[in-house]
Amino acid sequence: METTTNFRELQWGAEIQLPNSRALSKSPHFVGGRYPCRSVAYVPRMILEDYSSNSNGIKVLDPFMGSGTTAIEAVRYANSVHGVEVDPYARLIATVATRKYSSHEIQEMQSLVSEIEKRVQKQKPNIALKPELANIDYWFDDVNFADLLKLKSTIFDLTDEGKIRDFLLAAFGDIIRACSKAERQSLKPYISKKYEKTPKPVMEEFSRIAPKYIDAVLETGKHKFDGIVWEGWDATDFDVSTSIDLAITSPPYINAMDYTRCIKLESAWIGTADDQAIRTVRNAQLGESIRRHRVIGDEFVSSLARKHFGELEAIDESRYKTALVFFDDMKRNLQSVFQALKSGGSYYIIIGNSKIRDIDVPTHQVIAEIAGELGYNWEKYFLYRIKDHRTSIPRGDRGGKIEFEHVLGLVKP
Ligand SMILES: C[S@@+](CC[C@H](N)C(=O)[O-])C[C@H]1O[C@@H](n2cnc3c(N)ncnc32)[C@H](O)[C@@H]1O
Repeated sequence: METTTNFRELQWGAEIQLPNSRALSKSPHFVGGRYPCRSVAYVPRMILEDYSSNSNGIKVLDPFMGSGTTAIEAVRYANSVHGVEVDPYARLIATVATRKYSSHEIQEMQSLVSEIEKRVQKQKPNIALKPELANIDYWFDDVNFADLLKLKSTIFDLTDEGKIRDFLLAAFGDIIRACSKAERQSLKPYISKKYEKTPKPVMEEFSRIAPKYIDAVLETGKHKFDGIVWEGWDATDFDVSTSIDLAITSPPYINAMDYTRCIKLESAWIGTADDQAIRTVRNAQLGESIRRHRVIGDEFVSSLARKHFGELEAIDESRYKTALVFFDDMKRNLQSVFQALKSGGSYYIIIGNSKIRDIDVPTHQVIAEIAGELGYNWEKYFLYRIKDHRTSIPRGDRGGKIEFEHVLGLVKP
């Protein structure tokens, strides 16, 4: 087993050991800490450290940006960070975690938190800010529902649209699960009848979380640039405004849990999702079974599917198609990133393999073969054992528990 220190010399197929990510809890990684399927920060860090050692500043891209792990790491090394992401809540978290806040803005945020604490009980709730998700009341007791609406109304009364409101909304999003009746442990909202949970009082939770958010972003004023340049919403079809040196990403897993649903309470409260919006985002999510109806015209991807997991088709045709469409989507993603990269630029993909109905789907291998066909060279390949399953996807019998994450490094010649 190798350690992270000698990235350049890593042997093909090496299993490396990573430190536990919980140590990062005081950094901007704290922002949106419950976002499902976050990547381990140390992986982009080691790649970025290596790439930036010979350069004055690189341009970095993450086409499945999620809550921004790559970007949070990249702001220390890069001249600009570019992102694509379909989920609005994820975009808010990533945006807030990577912005440059001046000391004046930090002070303003601190006084706003005190002002909110003073004002909130007398605040008139603004009904127009009520979440538009069907049955939202089911998830909250009456007191917390009313208090959340008052808190959101206070935030909107005290701020205009923009940086400071985004910051407060991200902190507000982070208290939603704790203040709901849904269990904390399960990723998908679920109310246990057996072990009834006592929801946290809204203002107690906000007053606990908001200062931690301020601490988390305190460092950001030192960045060279202000946050992520968003280049689009769809990782399978986007154009980047500049030439990229290094792309690092962690795409969704195949046929994993529907995590748009996992964050539906937060999304509904911060105002980015009603039922229709949740469906739209879900339909765009790679690996979702709903996408399996898309017709695949690409014979190369179909032949790889037959070669690597063809037995699945007879056992479970619909999951076979879900996997097939996933790889076709990944091909489109690899093409978009290829266009975005400068010659000699690299694309690192962090991905777990799947077991579907007891059949192994070697995701990293299939992606590597597709990349080869598109003209990428293979630069690096290593893997590590997943230590912290807290926010990774519990796949039950649907995809098998993911034990390893594989890192595939590709280069555009
Ligand atoms: C494994 S997560 C990325 C996690 C991220 N590295 C982090 O640490 O938070 C995959 C992300 O891809 C996004 N995604 C899925 N399908 C997408 C698509 N078609 N276009 C853009 N983003 C997509 C999901 O919303 C999710 O945030």
